Amino acid sequence: MSIEIIKISHCRNIQSAQLTLKSGLNIITGANASGKTSLLEAFNLLGTGRSFRTSRLNHVIQSEQEALTIFAQLRTTAGLSQKLGFQYKQGKRLLRLDGNPIRSGAELAHLLPIQLINQQSFDLIDQGPSQRRKFLDWGVFHVEQSFYPVWQRYMRSMKQRNAALRQSVQQIEHWELEMATSAALLHDYRNQYVKSLQPLFSASVREMLGCDDITMQYRAGWEADIPLNELLAKNRDKDRELGYSRYGPQRADLVFKRDGVAARERLSRGQQKLLVSALVLGQAQLLMNATGKPGTVLIDDISAELDAGHCSKLMKVLLATGSQLVVTAITPEQLPDIKDQIPAMFHVKHGEVKEVV
Ligand SMILES: Nc1ncnc2c1ncn2[C@@H]1O[C@H](COP(=O)(O)OP(=O)(O)O)[C@@H](O)[C@H]1O
Ligand SMILES: [Mg+2]
Repeated sequence: MSIEIIKISHCRNIQSAQLTLKSGLNIITGANASGKTSLLEAFNLLGTGRSFRTSRLNHVIQSEQEALTIFAQLRTTAGLSQKLGFQYKQGKRLLRLDGNPIRSGAELAHLLPIQLINQQSFDLIDQGPSQRRKFLDWGVFHVEQSFYPVWQRYMRSMKQRNAALRQSVQQIEHWELEMATSAALLHDYRNQYVKSLQPLFSASVREMLGCDDITMQYRAGWEADIPLNELLAKNRDKDRELGYSRYGPQRADLVFKRDGVAARERLSRGQQKLLVSALVLGQAQLLMNATGKPGTVLIDDISAELDAGHCSKLMKVLLATGSQLVVTAITPEQLPDIKDQIPAMFHVKHGEVKEVV
């Protein structure tokens, strides 16, 4: 699925804009505060229903306006056209596909897989494991249909066990067994996914960073060769004191190291950006391999933290994924030479978008 046309009204400083996009490379340039990130925000809202900057969608509506509306014409790989609409008004979010309401985030995510590389992407390396779990699960969700229902089942049984811990009820063993059954499946899905991601990640890291000593290791959240229910039973008293379940897939993580030392200690910001990009692009490729459908990758401020040589390597890897790309930069001179590509080019100034021809 790619986005053919997007119409945006009242998204941050964008009063009204319409962009006709290519299924390959699309470039948006503009000075600081012109509206580049605001445009990407609109793409992201359309694909996820959420803002990447704020949990309060009210801040995304243009000041003094009542509603934010985004409309897109999508093109499926089979060449069919679909219409997707997003509106946020008076605290309510409304999403429609060809006029019918879309009720779940999962349905929307399957429809329009959107990935993002921006300044917040560094959180993947700098911050705690929850960002990395989200990243991992985004990938698994898109290639393994059973992942989401199993994950829901796990979360439900963990909630029940946590409640049982506090009330000392008999049923706790039942919930521990339930947790163990779904935990084993979740672990298999995640483990398998990381195994498929590994070679793509390493190849991109080699190409962009020129090194072979960065490792990615998946941690299950417990010693996965022990059935989770045994571990939970052993730790019941401790968990009771804490009031929650300490072990399980809710604790999973991906650990990145260079030379055995945490990547955040050993890599420059530019190198971290390339590492995160290698991950995101590896996911884009797996998505394409598994579903035959390209996703859309948004890259805000591509040249930030990167010299010309590395920026050009990143662009090369981006183009090789076959995804639809929407890339922003301050000036066209910041962009690497893209020789045989004829991208769609837009310039934004004070929130007004013009196609550059
Ligand atoms: N809700 C809003 N209403 C109107 N303007 C906004 C809103 N939120 C942010 N802005 C403004 O939009 C402008 C463009 O921001 P942004 O898209 O982040 O610029 P950039 O081109 O540097 O990425 C900024 O001046 C910002 O203050
Ligand atoms: Mg910006």
